[in-house]
Amino acid sequence: MSPPRTAAIIVAAGKGERAGGDRPKQFASLAGKPMVAHSHAALSHHPAIGEVVVVIGAGQEEALKAAIGDAHYVIGGATRRESVLAGLAAIKSADRVLIHDAARPFLSAEVIDRLLAALDEAPGAVPVLAVADTIARAYETLSDTIDRSNVVRVQTPQAFRLSAIRAAHAAWDEARQATDDAQVLRAHGGTVVTVEGDIMLDKVTHPADFAAAERNRGATMISR
Ligand code: CTP
Ligand code: MG
Repeated sequence: MSPPRTAAIIVAAGKGERAGGDRPKQFASLAGKPMVAHSHAALSHHPAIGEVVVVIGAGQEEALKAAIGDAHYVIGGATRRESVLAGLAAIKSADRVLIHDAARPFLSAEVIDRLLAALDEAPGAVPVLAVADTIARAYETLSDTIDRSNVVRVQTPQAFRLSAIRAAHAAWDEARQATDDAQVLRAHGGTVVTVEGDIMLDKVTHPADFAAAERNRGATMISR
């Protein structure tokens, strides 16, 4: 039997409104390169990945070219999910797909390896980290504390068997928001297993996250 073929989608069509700045955050410079260039390099250099599709916003073609040169790209939509759908439609030939946020720049080969190994057992796999802080609801004042023993932070890349995630997205109720793809697969009855995530994959969302991402990367590179 031939080995499964793996594709990757990087969703980079957002506006980066919370991050501010003079351009969308995925094109801002981080550790010496435009943010999207980091995960693009990690995915395209991984030996198991044969195809990488970058999903960008209309008008971001020049920014992408300046960031990573000639890349396979498609134009995304108004929501993350629409951008994922554009990426899924553009995959040429694969059995498995990794769906990744451009806003999580520092992706290691080890995380990719863990996800792909997990896909032998289930149609979906995600990297997660335990929560260290106390988690509580808050309205005007602090409300109930939530038992955090089974609470995790879910990161990307999220790995799927391609036919399973395509079927799940096709069946998803368009009116519902989806912040990631694992919830779409689960809603369609697919099991999603968890693998160990990486603090380096924390999402760059707000202005202070740029410096935090660089710090985490520096600390991780020293300790490995
Ligand atoms: N994304 C996308 N298409 C959209 C919205 C988001 O491809 N219509 C991508 C972003 O580029 C990012 C990832 O989805 O890589 C996660 O989204 P988020 O962190 O929310 O990024 P933005 O939507 O760009 O930021 P904001 O919500 O602050 O505007
Ligand atoms: Mg957003």
